[in-house]
Amino acid sequence: MRTLASRCAFAAVAMLLSSSSLSAAEEKSLYERIGGYKGVAATVDDLVDRIYVNQTLNKNPVLKSVHELNERAAFKLILATWVMENTGGPKVYFGRDMGAAHVALNITDREFTVIMHECKETFYKFGVPEKEMGELMTALESYRGKVVTAK
Ligand code: HEM
Repeated sequence: MRTLASRCAFAAVAMLLSSSSLSAAEEKSLYERIGGYKGVAATVDDLVDRIYVNQTLNKNPVLKSVHELNERAAFKLILATWVMENTGGPKVYFGRDMGAAHVALNITDREFTVIMHECKETFYKFGVPEKEMGELMTALESYRGKVVTAK
């Protein structure tokens, strides 16, 4: 009997330990789970390169003119800081809010969807796990109303 009781106690402690280490893992920020600044830098680098050559996006003359400014490196930097801050990483974003940043760009709903597809391509390429990818896509989708500015 005593052996059974001590076995039960052992099992209960083991369950507690494993559930507490599970919740510790879940407490990690999305930023940490996608690889910290290195993960952000790699994905933003790839994504911006995709966006700059996307033929659908470059049909929008305002977007095309921004892409022709040759400020790609600066855009990668500012976007990386936005992603870092908005995934629970260091608070380093120094740009405008999403409404102000996009108000003059005349972005359509379709263009927003194109960007979302490009994001997915990048996340697949870098093997971002399904769960994290879902969280990222949901977070990005929540900005559609602010970013889509075409009448
Ligand atoms: C959730 C989605 C998006 C996020 C998180 C995002 C993020 C950003 C950030 C952080 C900036 C820099 C802001 C600043 O300069 O102060 C920016 C600017 C810009 N975004 Fe987005 N963006 C999103 C969607 C889009 C879409 C759908 C397009 C085009 C189809 C777009 C095109 C641009 C362009 C061209 C700029 C540069 C504006 C300028 O230099 O004045 N963005 N975006």
